[in-house]
Amino acid sequence: MSIKDQLKEIEISGARVLPLVEGGKGIAASDGLSAGSWAAMDGVGTISAVNPHVPGQGDYANMKSYSSSIRLERHKEMIERAIAGGIAQARIAYETACRRGRIHINVLWEMGGVDEILHGILSKVKGMVHGVTCGAGMPFRLGEICAKYDVKYYPIVSSARAFGILWKRAYNKFSQWLGGVVYEDPWLAGGHNGLSNNEDEAQPESPEPRVRELRNVMRSFGIGDLLPIFMAGGVWCLSEWVNWINNPDLGTIAFQFGTRPLLTQESPIPITWKKKLLTLKRGDVVLNRFSPTGFPSSAVKNNMLINLQQRSARQVPFSAVPDATYTRPFYQSPRTPLFLTSTDYDDAMRWVKEGFVVGMKTPSRTIIFVTAEESQEIMHDRLHCIGCLSACKFSGWRQDADSKVPIVPDPRYFCIQKSLQRIASEGDAENALMFCGHQGYRFAEDDFYKDGYIPTVKELVERLQTGL
Ligand SMILES: Cc1cc2nc3c(=O)[nH]c(=O)nc-3n(C[C@H](O)[C@H](O)[C@H](O)COP(=O)(O)O)c2cc1C
Ligand code: SF4
Repeated sequence: MSIKDQLKEIEISGARVLPLVEGGKGIAASDGLSAGSWAAMDGVGTISAVNPHVPGQGDYANMKSYSSSIRLERHKEMIERAIAGGIAQARIAYETACRRGRIHINVLWEMGGVDEILHGILSKVKGMVHGVTCGAGMPFRLGEICAKYDVKYYPIVSSARAFGILWKRAYNKFSQWLGGVVYEDPWLAGGHNGLSNNEDEAQPESPEPRVRELRNVMRSFGIGDLLPIFMAGGVWCLSEWVNWINNPDLGTIAFQFGTRPLLTQESPIPITWKKKLLTLKRGDVVLNRFSPTGFPSSAVKNNMLINLQQRSARQVPFSAVPDATYTRPFYQSPRTPLFLTSTDYDDAMRWVKEGFVVGMKTPSRTIIFVTAEESQEIMHDRLHCIGCLSACKFSGWRQDADSKVPIVPDPRYFCIQKSLQRIASEGDAENALMFCGHQGYRFAEDDFYKDGYIPTVKELVERLQTGL
């Protein structure tokens, strides 16, 4: 039997649709047009509600476009813009879908103002948005929020354990609105990854036993087999997943694609980003720890990432007072010498000679060496912070102003908001963060994209149904 015949429609967010899902991609890498186009093919499209753009409005890459000089006010403006953008994109998706398929929105639980943004969007998009997917953190309040607007919710997890905690603590009270669970492979998926502390990033685990465990946990809670698990991360063509289709052990499965849909005509990303995707080779996508959210993430090893790796490598521990180990005074400024070990002192002096003349302290009692321009950029980005995260390791911003635990700003991270806006608006795929799944190299190897061909969503969804 062909894949197309095996791939039966399943119920997702109240309609029978193909089990093919476009994953949400922020910032502005999945939007109303891309999501609506997936829905128009009887699949599921996901609008990213992480700072979505209002078409024709705003200089998104320019953080200075925020009007207030006070960060809390910029944070509020960011929330207003996100709500306006989410509503605008939902309308576009609704019109594009022509009442076919399903439309979801995606948010990060650790983004700033997540509750307010969800309430703001969901209160204005009744009938246009049918579900919400949410990961990057433990979205305990997601069920309650979605129940209020009668839309389904889909937590994104990377282990059965995480779902078990969410269910026991919160979701069992809102079981009616649970639409399914997204299992995102923490070793393969593009974007932020849910690797836990006891999982080794160098030892990837096969998704099948992990999804079976997730299904068994769902069964133990009485959720059964009908609610779909969306398999996300590392899915390229379905001929490699035939054992997953109609497999009673795994229950109902849908397939979520994040990286492949980036390269379609309707994908909102700039052409330079699309062209860069076509050039990727094996090993170009790496798991890294530079996101100021604190989560690992998968992105292309471009200038931006190499620069961050090198910045962290130019790092030495210091002591504020001399002792038997920290013997060499290093004069950052004449009044405040720091003490380095003898070997580190030699390295530090070499970096200074190479132009990395500014030493910046980190919360780990280390000092990193950057150029004067880089240090100015770091200070500039912190100054223009809009509070896009609930807690930011780079700027030290914390939405919960009452928290007794301050975050010490750390120059080893970067402003992810600025970087993702930059690639989304200007397409600078070399000097901005380029999230990508670990199978991104397959664009260059897959005949479908021969001679730089960029398919429409219709062509991609039809292709997926052939198994290729
Ligand atoms: C450019 C890019 C941005 C992404 N942004 C988000 C996001 O904002 N929220 C989210 O839940 N997942 C995000 N993802 C993950 C996708 O939704 C999807 O689950 C994942 O990419 C699937 O794995 P794949 O990359 O192997 O296809 C992103 C992925 C990519 C490639
Ligand atoms: S500094 Fe951090 S919180 Fe502020 S805008 Fe940048 S990423 Fe967001």
